[in-house]
Amino acid sequence: MSWTKVLAVDSLPVGSRQVVKTDDHNLLLLNHQGQLYAVKNSCPHLKISLKKAKLTDEGDLVCPMHRSVFDLKTGAVKTWIPWPPVVGKALAMLSQEKALAVFPVKTEEGSIWVDLT
Ligand code: FES
Repeated sequence: MSWTKVLAVDSLPVGSRQVVKTDDHNLLLLNHQGQLYAVKNSCPHLKISLKKAKLTDEGDLVCPMHRSVFDLKTGAVKTWIPWPPVVGKALAMLSQEKALAVFPVKTEEGSIWVDLT
């Protein structure tokens, strides 16, 4: 494990999100209903930022471009490129499904730590 301190806990209140860059990673940190998450800030489809991704009450992250849906806890694909209609289906056939990278998170000494191994 390679825990890296990324942010003060107070900097990520419930309902907020922040992009954090480390030497090797561009992360999106989210506080969803009091639970902290760290994911790669890059959609597995075309690598666009997920900073403005919609977050559902169920904890699904929806890419703002083609609306692929990822489970925030596991990164698993729930829906792959559903948008726009018809064109999305064609894009989905050209691009293999890829899960979103998620990283373990812990809090310690007032800071958020992410395991980047
Ligand atoms: S860029 Fe995210 S689904 Fe296409």
